[in-house]
Amino acid sequence: MNIFICPVCGEKLNDTGKSYVCGKNHSFDIARSGYVNLLLSKHAGKTVHGDNKLMVQARKNFLDKGYYSKLKDELCEAVRRYSRKGSMILDAGCGEGYYTAAVAEAVPGAGIYGIDISKTAVEYAAKRCKTASFATASVFHIPAEERSCDMLITLFAPYCGEEFRRVLRDGGIMIMAIPSENHLWELKQAIYDTPYKNEVKPYELDGFALIRKKRISYRIQLDSQEDIQSLFSMTPYYYKTGKAEQQRLAALENLETQVDFELLIYKKV
Ligand SMILES: C[S@@+](CC[C@H](N)C(=O)[O-])C[C@H]1O[C@@H](n2cnc3c(N)ncnc32)[C@H](O)[C@@H]1O
Ligand SMILES: [Zn+2]
Repeated sequence: MNIFICPVCGEKLNDTGKSYVCGKNHSFDIARSGYVNLLLSKHAGKTVHGDNKLMVQARKNFLDKGYYSKLKDELCEAVRRYSRKGSMILDAGCGEGYYTAAVAEAVPGAGIYGIDISKTAVEYAAKRCKTASFATASVFHIPAEERSCDMLITLFAPYCGEEFRRVLRDGGIMIMAIPSENHLWELKQAIYDTPYKNEVKPYELDGFALIRKKRISYRIQLDSQEDIQSLFSMTPYYYKTGKAEQQRLAALENLETQVDFELLIYKKV
């Protein structure tokens, strides 16, 4: 059993091993790396689909070095607490699968799914984690059945409350990670003349009740220009930064900075 539905007609998709096929014979090949493309061009939005190769590679390099492993551990603990064997868990905007793979290990026997609009990201994710199913798709048009998921995970990725509520069962759990106010403060201080703290929006979300929240704050030490650049390219400031700031960034040999996250746990009501 899998949660994926045909993006063309909405019927359930059957996994034949080589492709996903619906009752109306719409067929979607599974790529050699293991993911399936369920993104219709009319749902793709811009021409560049989500994170590009450079951003995906930078995120992978950075995460694989363990800088955010405390967040990963807290996430896995929350997933274990609120799910069980047989739970269907969807990582919406899964990126290159660092957290999806950890979740798959944390709850063996659960059905783990990851979607991302970036083809490169899901390709990396599918190579990284063989115990989850990955698809190219948008969080604004999730190719999953109504109420098919027990848990939805959304980490630093676009939010679509309507779709998230549609695919979650009643009483289902949503785990969200967001940057908190001091996230990467020293990095911003090193680059900008007038750095701003992150604005944390109100936690209330329509159709969800916040049942738990945990702040995860600690310091990381980056000892190479490569890691500093990788971290910076993961931030929203990456494409908004001018020449002077880029030069300051390029001159940094090492950096100690705070990381500051919030892990929010919601229940669908
Ligand atoms: C900041 S990254 C976070 C990735 C991953 N959750 C992590 O924490 O490592 C945001 C991700 O959202 C994806 N994304 C952007 N727009 C999307 C959309 N409409 N649907 C699905 N994924 C999207 C990007 O391709 C990117 O992989
Ligand atoms: Zn179909």
